[in-house]
Amino acid sequence: MLQIKPFPYASDNIGYLIYGRKKAMAVDGGAVSGILAHLENTGLVLAFVANTHSHPDHTVGNADLLEKTDARFLGFEVLTAEGAIEIEGNAVEIMHTPGHTPDSVCFYFNDILISGDTLFNGKVGRCFTGDHAGFLRSIRQILRLPEETKVYAGHDYVMEYLDFSKQLEPDNPYIEAYRRKYDPDNLFYTLGEEIRVNPYLRINDEKIAAILKDKGLPSETEFERWQSLLSLM
Ligand SMILES: [Fe+2]
Repeated sequence: MLQIKPFPYASDNIGYLIYGRKKAMAVDGGAVSGILAHLENTGLVLAFVANTHSHPDHTVGNADLLEKTDARFLGFEVLTAEGAIEIEGNAVEIMHTPGHTPDSVCFYFNDILISGDTLFNGKVGRCFTGDHAGFLRSIRQILRLPEETKVYAGHDYVMEYLDFSKQLEPDNPYIEAYRRKYDPDNLFYTLGEEIRVNPYLRINDEKIAAILKDKGLPSETEFERWQSLLSLM
């Protein structure tokens, strides 16, 4: 069974190692020295280097990792063409989730989702493609996963985003429980927990519709509510 280990770097980026008994894959491995030290200490061999999307803060460690190990780089085209990456007989499923960028992907295995800048803990990413309908399809794809799925994101913006949610929905009882559970060293929440605090994952909730209507924003259709919420980012 594959495992995950987070490697935070820079001020709020988080990269990950997905690993089995011997082999590992780096996803957004910007924490190069930490990752190399971990490989050395555990005897794990880095087989693959990949990214959740091609923004430079996520790809910053690629060149170094590829130079200092025998790992193979799996770019967007390879990831999406393969559909899944095998590590010791276990599949890491690749979900193409455009919206933040055209080349955004999520990595799904066991009950774990590495969601990059598509879905953060507490909010969704910014839709730089401008294709709001496409981005909504990507989020719906994630929402079809089991609620127990653990969401490991590309940045830690938890406190800022909880403040946003609290401002939008002050009487949401789940926000404080979510805040108390915050653990920056092993940051994840289940998809169920995300849905309860994140208004972008509840666009069909009557309460969210009423909040948007109160603000004078379009709220009749699902897509209007989605656009209205994106306009608040
Ligand atoms: Fe990004």
